[in-house]
Amino acid sequence: MALTTNQRAPIPPAHHDPAPTPICYGHRGARGHAPENTLLAFDLAFDLGADGIECDAQLSADGRLVIIHDGTVNRTTNARGAVRDLRFDALRQLDAGRGQRIPTLDETLALVGARGGLLNLELKAESDAEALAVAAAVAARLAALPADDPLRERIIASSFSLPAVEDIKQRLPWLRIGALYGGRAWTRQAMIERALALGAEAIHPHPRILTPETVSEAHAVGLRVNVWTANRWATIHQLITWEVDGVFSDFPERVIIARRLRESAEEWAATPGE
Ligand code: G3P
Ligand code: MG
Repeated sequence: MALTTNQRAPIPPAHHDPAPTPICYGHRGARGHAPENTLLAFDLAFDLGADGIECDAQLSADGRLVIIHDGTVNRTTNARGAVRDLRFDALRQLDAGRGQRIPTLDETLALVGARGGLLNLELKAESDAEALAVAAAVAARLAALPADDPLRERIIASSFSLPAVEDIKQRLPWLRIGALYGGRAWTRQAMIERALALGAEAIHPHPRILTPETVSEAHAVGLRVNVWTANRWATIHQLITWEVDGVFSDFPERVIIARRLRESAEEWAATPGE
């Protein structure tokens, strides 16, 4: 397959030196243990050893950026209604579980900054048009980060809406972006070529559409591979064996344990015998 090498600048190092491989992102925080997309889940993910968190950003009816996954509040709160139809003050009244509130983007940025971690900010919407509105709002917020704020290098924005990913990259050329892929229609070549065309740092495929060949071809053209969402031990072990760069998990501690055991096995194998 004909691919052009990605010409972008080298990927900045993560906050660890050396960076652990793969980087562990708590999916919607530590979703397996706490109400998803809440400050409690984010804090817990870091407590469990995650290097970063993933969360989903949307716009309220009055244009505020809030962190929630679904298009409605029905599943994750004690109320009903579409996020896009509810004003911020109404969203903040809701119980997101264990007394948690739906977080704002600002609160999430503050938490990630305080924990010194990484953030995958997913631009979530029901359509490309809505995703473009989220991209514009997120870009405006991130543009306000001081030029020397370490958070700038720790954020990667992604979306299933690739026009939204393209748009936010054009607005903020310094921002790292990932191309999210879920459907089986995505071929290896299409995933890689689209990501290169977007100027993405990484592809973010689901495990069902990932092969070890995709990982090595992505690496060969300078793309990272961050995979969502791996919760089963066998899947996590397999992804580590394939040398992916990042793993999103509802149970971040599983990635930490599997990663450490892999390192230990490599150290053991490298130890000279008697
Ligand atoms: O960003 C990775 C993953 O979160 C995408 O799927 O539906 O969990 O937001 P979803
Ligand atoms: Mg998500």
